[in-house]
Amino acid sequence: MKIIADLRSDTVTRPSPAMRAAIAGAEVGDDVLGDDPTVIRLQERMAELLGKEASLFVPSGSMANQVSIRSVTEPGDEIICDIHTHSYNYEAAGPSALCGCSLALLHGQRGIFTAGDVEAAIRPNDSHFAHSRVVIVENTNNRGGGSVWPVETVAAIGEVARRRGLHLHLDGARLMNACAAEGVKPTDYTRHVDSVSTCFSKGLGAPVGSIVAGSGAFIRRAHRFRKMFGGGMRQAGILAAGALYAIDHNLERLVKDHANARHLAEALAELPGIGLDPCDVQTNIIIFDVDERLGTSAELAERLGARGVAVFDTGPSQIRAVTHMDVNREQIDFAIGVFRELCSGIAVA
Ligand SMILES: Cc1ncc(COP(=O)(O)O)c(C=O)c1O
Repeated sequence: MKIIADLRSDTVTRPSPAMRAAIAGAEVGDDVLGDDPTVIRLQERMAELLGKEASLFVPSGSMANQVSIRSVTEPGDEIICDIHTHSYNYEAAGPSALCGCSLALLHGQRGIFTAGDVEAAIRPNDSHFAHSRVVIVENTNNRGGGSVWPVETVAAIGEVARRRGLHLHLDGARLMNACAAEGVKPTDYTRHVDSVSTCFSKGLGAPVGSIVAGSGAFIRRAHRFRKMFGGGMRQAGILAAGALYAIDHNLERLVKDHANARHLAEALAELPGIGLDPCDVQTNIIIFDVDERLGTSAELAERLGARGVAVFDTGPSQIRAVTHMDVNREQIDFAIGVFRELCSGIAVA
């Protein structure tokens, strides 16, 4: 069956005709030689938007995180982050394989921890221990169900990081979703962190690309590690044009994705066999539990797929659905209908 509502991820969006036109018309040069005008324009624009001295265009969110970590660590250093952090779960062990770092994992609430948690995780300055060096805050937190960090929590962690000599990195793959949900500017968060990454290829709808921003010295190091990790791109203005288009046109519409996610969550919460508090759905990611009467999450995902609704099973009894610019309210209502049909079987059991 054809997929009617693809809710696997906000990365599945395809560039719109207008974005494709912007891409087709992009002025380009060799960015490894530093002369792609569209990449330069994007980097200047993003440095300003994120309130940092400089920024660097990279192919992916994973590379953005890894060059950031590598730029401020040496083997034997330790990264403090939540157990739900993307860099720990989904970057192929990059922190250990590429950077030689161990991870001190915190158990926050839906990916969100406190300044006190960080302070307690910092290792003593003693030759037995790893050297605590970086803290990663992920906003919104993907595995936490698109949870949004309160600005003041990031500010408090920034204060601890500065006082204890740690680098604070914000994995803001979906920072613009967090800002839309909280009604704040990116700089309300970024002024408290040393480096930040954000992605154009998620809710913003561009095909490829992420940015890393920080001080001039940090970005000079990140530039070297981007090259080392194979991320130097030539006529990358083609990609940067999609990113610029996304920033110009697709920021304000993110609240629609959040409203669609809440609408879906409210309907799902009513269904037998599904465990979900719609109030937890703050942005465009919905994570819910599936009880055994519906089978495993993999089985349910397969049955949904066979009826035109694509989701990811993210645990044996957990499913994730994500809203984005390529699913409208009608498609969400179609998905709700399919969920109702599949769950109705257990209502009478
Ligand atoms: C929070 C977060 N950080 C980083 C990434 C990595 O992005 P990419 O898939 O572009 O490597 C993702 C991907 O979904 C993510 O959710």
